[in-house]
Amino acid sequence: MIFTVAIDGPAAAGKGTISREVAARFGFAHLDTGLLYRAVGVLGGDPAQAARTLRPEDLTRADLRSLEAGQAASRVAAIPEVRAALVDFQRRFARRPGGAVLDGRDIGTVICPEAEAKLYVTASPQVRAHRRWCEVGGDEANVLAEVQERDARDMGRANAPLRPAQDAVILDTSAMTIDEAVARAVAVIAARRGEHPYA
Ligand code: DC
Repeated sequence: MIFTVAIDGPAAAGKGTISREVAARFGFAHLDTGLLYRAVGVLGGDPAQAARTLRPEDLTRADLRSLEAGQAASRVAAIPEVRAALVDFQRRFARRPGGAVLDGRDIGTVICPEAEAKLYVTASPQVRAHRRWCEVGGDEANVLAEVQERDARDMGRANAPLRPAQDAVILDTSAMTIDEAVARAVAVIAARRGEHPYA
């Protein structure tokens, strides 16, 4: 059984939590594609070379979740050679037997336009910054500026910019709890599979 769930959206919209929960609910494998770009960003050196030689252990580094790693990822993600080097791995993961959930920025538009279910998870910049600030602390205004800078870069780049696929279901989580957002995502995917959401 091949079934791909593509979950795209801006930073701190809740994609990660929704993806993990959805993968567990349907028994699918999960790939957080942001980790690939974060690893390339923190490895340093020539980003295209780092992307071509990325190893599984690079994805388990403890420093990948920081704001700095997010910014570094967003910068290297604008380099076409970096994106090109990471395509095959993501496509193979998406079409692996047993089902897969991939979250990122271009999964439904570029990596897997044939995905059986596509979600675009978003929330207002203020809500996203507040959620991220609850995790990382520091100055909330700085976190908002960081989120807005990353949005502008990820949406404005020429190559695979962040935007909803035409056939994506938009999930604005600004006024939702995480449980509500997960339930909505599960309902969308179950409908695509012809199942009842609570079967
Ligand atoms: O999802 P994240 O915050 O971990 O992603 C970090 C950065 O990596 C993000 O700002 C842009 C880039 N990215 C991308 O360009 N394409 C993806 N599929 C995933 C992430």
